[in-house]
Amino acid sequence: MLIRPAKSFRRIISLPGDKSIFHRSAILAALARGTSKIYNYPKGNDALSTLSCLQELGVSNFPEPECCIVHGSGIDKLIPSKNLDARNSGTTLRLISGILPHLSGTSIITGDASLQKRPMKRVIEPLALMGAKIKYTGNFNAPLTFHPSRMQNREITPQTASAQIKSMLMLSALFSEGTALIKEIRPTRNHLENLFSLAKIDFSASETLISVPGKQTPQPFSLTLPGDFSSGAFFIAPALMLSGGVVTLKNVGINPGRTGFLSVLQRMGAEIIYKNRSFIFSGEEICDLTISHNKLNATIITEDEVVTLIDELPLFALIATIADGVSRVKGAKELRVKESDRIKAVVSELSKMGAVIRELPDGFEIEGPVRLKGAQVDSQGDHRIAMMLAAAALSAKGETFINKSKAADISYPEFYKILTNT
Ligand code: S3P
Repeated sequence: MLIRPAKSFRRIISLPGDKSIFHRSAILAALARGTSKIYNYPKGNDALSTLSCLQELGVSNFPEPECCIVHGSGIDKLIPSKNLDARNSGTTLRLISGILPHLSGTSIITGDASLQKRPMKRVIEPLALMGAKIKYTGNFNAPLTFHPSRMQNREITPQTASAQIKSMLMLSALFSEGTALIKEIRPTRNHLENLFSLAKIDFSASETLISVPGKQTPQPFSLTLPGDFSSGAFFIAPALMLSGGVVTLKNVGINPGRTGFLSVLQRMGAEIIYKNRSFIFSGEEICDLTISHNKLNATIITEDEVVTLIDELPLFALIATIADGVSRVKGAKELRVKESDRIKAVVSELSKMGAVIRELPDGFEIEGPVRLKGAQVDSQGDHRIAMMLAAAALSAKGETFINKSKAADISYPEFYKILTNT
C-alpha cells in the first residue's frame, strides 16, 4: 500500500472494541449457561479466530453488525475437536488451551506459520502441573494435543509476566478440583478479573495474587466493549508528530494495565487531556482522550514498565525519532516472540526510513530528533508493524510503500481508511 505524507492530522475517532477483552468475554460467554451479548465487538481476523474456534467446539455464536451473540451451554456441552485453528491469534490459542484438558475427548489446536513458531512452553508447563496431558510439536510449539485430564488446582507462579497465561490459568481453574492460587511476577492487564466479576464468579484478586475456587459456572452477561487503546495508539503518533496535529479518541479504554504508553508520553512532555471519565463495567474505565502536537524529550523504558505497553513499543520507537536525545527500551525480550520479532522488525524498517536506531538484545535505542523519509518497507506480516509504518509514513518526507500491509486486518481492518481519511 502506498501512503503519502499528510500536511496535518486533526481527528476525532471512535474505535473498535477492545480485542483483549473480546477474546476473554467470548470464551467466558461460551462457558456460561445461557445467552450473552457483546456490543461494539472488534471485526478483525483475531476476533473471528476466537469465534470460529468456539463454533468448532459446538458453541453457536452470531457476529451480527451491532452485537456478537454467544449461546453458551456450559463446559460439559463443549464438543472436543481436532480442527481448532487460531490462525494468527496467540491470545485465542493460549486462552482456549486452558479449557481443552477439561473436555471429554482429545482436541488439537494450532495456528498459522507465525503462531506455530511462538513459544508454548509457558502454556504446557503450568497446565501439565495441574494434571493436563499435552503433546506438543518441536521445541514446545503448536500444534498442541490435549487429552482428557483430571485437573487439580495448585499454587502456580508463571515465569513470564503474561496476561494470556494468567487468563488461561484462571479459565482452567474454574473447572478443576480445589482452589487455584496464581502468583504473577509482575501485575498484568486484569480484564478477565473484571469479566469474572461480571459473570458472578467467586474469586479474589490483589495486584499479583489471584485465587479461584474450582467447579464453577459463569453466568451469562451483556457488555459494551471499550474502544481498543492499542488500536487507538496508532493515531497518537501522527497527532504528536505533525505540526498542528490533534487527535481525540472517543470512549477509549484506559485500564492502567494497558496504558503505560500514556505515562511514557507524559514523561516525554506530551499533554494528554482526559474527559468524560466513567466505568462501563466492573473495573473497566473509559474516557475521551485528547493529545496534540508537542515538543518531546527522550526517555528510557525499563523492564518494570514493559508489560503495560508491550503492544505500543513499536510506536514508542517511532515517536522517539522526533524526541530530543537518546531513548531506550530495555527488558523487552518478549518483543522477539510476538507475531514477528518486533525488535528486528522495528529496527530494520524504521532504519529504511532514516531513523537512527540500534538493536539491543532486549530492546532498542533511538537517537532523535530526525525527520523520517518515505521508503519501501515491509510489515513482516505483523499487524502492529504494518500500522506503525503507516503512521510513520504520514509525517515522513516523500511517499512510503508498505509491503504486506494487509496484515492490519488482524486487528483493525478499517485502519488505513481512518488514518488517511479516504
Ligand atoms: C494480550 C497480552 C499480551 C499482548 C497481546 C494480547 C492479552 O501478550 O501482547 O497482544 O490479550 O492477554 P502477553 O500476555 O504474551 O504479554
